[in-house]
Amino acid sequence: MEKKTVRDILEGYKKFLHHDITVYGWVRAFRSNRFIALNDGSTIKNLQIVVEFSEFDEQLLKNINTGSSLKILGEVVESQGAGQTVEIIAKKIIVLGDNHFEELQKTILQPKRHSLEKLREEAHLRFRTNLFGAIFRVRSAVSFAIHEFFNKKQFFYINTPIITGADAEGAGEMFSVTALNLSDLPKDAQGAVDFTQDFFGKKTNLTVSGQLEAETAAMGLGRVYTFGPTFRAENSNTTRHLAEFWMVEPEVAFNNLEDNIDLAEDFLKYVIGYVLENCKDDLAFLDERFTQEQNQKPEKDRAKEGLIEKLENVLSKRFKRVSYTEAIEILMNSKENKKGKFQFPVENWGTDLQSEHERYLVEKHFECPVVLFDYPKEIKAFYMRLNDDGKTVAAMDVLFPGIGEIIGGSQREDRLSVLKAKMEQMDVDTEELWWYLDTRKFGSVPHAGFGLGLERLVLFVTGMTNIRDVIPFARTPKNAEF
Ligand code: 4AD
Ligand code: MG
Repeated sequence: MEKKTVRDILEGYKKFLHHDITVYGWVRAFRSNRFIALNDGSTIKNLQIVVEFSEFDEQLLKNINTGSSLKILGEVVESQGAGQTVEIIAKKIIVLGDNHFEELQKTILQPKRHSLEKLREEAHLRFRTNLFGAIFRVRSAVSFAIHEFFNKKQFFYINTPIITGADAEGAGEMFSVTALNLSDLPKDAQGAVDFTQDFFGKKTNLTVSGQLEAETAAMGLGRVYTFGPTFRAENSNTTRHLAEFWMVEPEVAFNNLEDNIDLAEDFLKYVIGYVLENCKDDLAFLDERFTQEQNQKPEKDRAKEGLIEKLENVLSKRFKRVSYTEAIEILMNSKENKKGKFQFPVENWGTDLQSEHERYLVEKHFECPVVLFDYPKEIKAFYMRLNDDGKTVAAMDVLFPGIGEIIGGSQREDRLSVLKAKMEQMDVDTEELWWYLDTRKFGSVPHAGFGLGLERLVLFVTGMTNIRDVIPFARTPKNAEF
């Protein structure tokens, strides 16, 4: 018989009333040797287990502590406690595995809130806390909603390679790949192994974006998207950057920039709406935490709205669409700029926007998500379509409050001669990318796409502030321990 989760029991409690049932989980708390709060990860809620201690072996009960893993057989009864539908009167309790409680007690295991820094160092504990349980359930729901959105819109899910010869962004921030087969060598020769051996017969790296391959797929399948791990050797130790993150990249034949912006807006709203509808318990918990965090800040730095309110507001308003040129004017004329409050002053058309500028536009000036478009060609990637002005490209970035850039995309340069010239100007290897150029030779069409950083969206919907806290195993400079 399929095992019942705590969530099954709490949600379907009527059908279980007065039945014997087996449940599994970990002890969150064991109060007065009588009440076990049991959690199995299926929901943020705990199931209360009532233990009549006279009916159990004393030694067994002594072995049950916070963190213990248990199998419990008991009867489901109505609960007297506030906020709980049912509880279980334990009839049989089995301790499933070791729990070195003293060791844990000495370090950090206490039923109180742990610092996020500490939790990042404790692989076994992180997933057992309410906070990370909520974050990773929400992350899973976000991923599901992404697939659902594209599936409903007749997109095909394409898997682009992780190992590639292409530097899709032309930024040179890649991890290289070398083949290594130690088992072919005698032990004493392994130290002398040649790490540069050439498995693919060419230089390869971990992908920085699946876009170029997705473009080739879109040229036959029409509407495609990728959703996979992405690697960037940017040495930026910020709360918004990871060396390994997950990117969602739709690519659509026959779409122009405006279609692309519409798609991005619909997409973000769909996923956020899905989370609001399907993650209510976890969001309620995260909302409360968010408010507590805000209340610890000086009044002027506090968010004006709660987490759930913030998500609902994103759904209710149309994103503000602003050209780069308009944005630069707003920034140049802002009080912040004139009073020298920006770390990077905005002095002329053509400068790249820093996250402080993006956040000014979103949080102070427009007070809603903003889509910036038509950026100077010099500050954007080689594949973006040159506009008729000859100065700007059909790029778009979606900027979110508290996050800055959440999506980057563009209409692609579909004219072979213009693309080739652009690649040469920007020093992008046209021979390496012959297969990409071929798509512009044989039935080229206007097309557009974008990339969403999954973790940045999860940051937004969970109200967290450090990207390391929304990915199960973070990879950042000097950090790949587990
Ligand atoms: O703006 P980016 O670099 O765009 C591309 O890679 C395009 N090829 C996408 C496309 O058009 N198909 O990255 C897209 C998004 C960013 O907006 C950001 O959300 C996220 O990916 N991102 C990162 N997230 C976490 N850590 C990093 N180091 C990131 N770099 C980009
Ligand atoms: Mg970008």
